[in-house]
Amino acid sequence: MRGFIFDLDGVIVDTAKYHYLAWKKLANDLGIDFTEEENEQLKGVSRVKSLEKILDWGNKTISEQSFNELMAKKNDDYLSHISKMDESEILPDVPRVLNLLKKKKQPISLGSASKNARTILERVSLKNQFDAIVDGNDVSKAKPDPEVFLIAAKRLNVKPENCIVFEDSVAGVEAANVANMISIGIGSKDVLGHADYIFSDFTEISDEFIKSLIEN
Ligand code: BG6
Ligand code: MG
Repeated sequence: MRGFIFDLDGVIVDTAKYHYLAWKKLANDLGIDFTEEENEQLKGVSRVKSLEKILDWGNKTISEQSFNELMAKKNDDYLSHISKMDESEILPDVPRVLNLLKKKKQPISLGSASKNARTILERVSLKNQFDAIVDGNDVSKAKPDPEVFLIAAKRLNVKPENCIVFEDSVAGVEAANVANMISIGIGSKDVLGHADYIFSDFTEISDEFIKSLIEN
């Protein structure tokens, strides 16, 4: 029995652009520059770690209270973006792959660092496609720690070595590898060279490839 685990941000939906807008506003308000390249480095990284990195890049030290206020502010801003999302923001061919897995009766879980995962899945009407949802509210250790994927495997009742993970971030691919799962990188070969397979997006993943994962 196989188990299929999907990261959310950058795999199912392109929410990196909304994280970017919210982090940029926050950084700029603090007088810190924030580029798209820096945003790349925040992919797969938890909210707390992301703010720590931004403050570090700007050489800023702040009190714990200000830190918590900034975290809440960033999330409010991010929520204002994702509250407008709908099905049109599902990345190309993701529904085809999910539907094929459903048709083949394969267990499917989400494995995301985001605490907003459920909200986003509801906005894009995909929540019902998942047999399990493991997100930032369920874990104490962030990717590259494999915790999120190991919990997903457990909830699906599938052994880690029989799980297949779709990930767009360096930390996420590493987490899947550490968990002894098959890692499928979604993105650039230059960035995700440590994945077992790499595709630029789901349009490159054929039904035959998915079927071969199920059968082997
Ligand atoms: C990851 C994103 O999926 O979730 C990161 O790639 C983000 O950019 C992290 O920081 C936490 O998300 P949230 O929604 O809980 O702030
Ligand atoms: Mg991601």
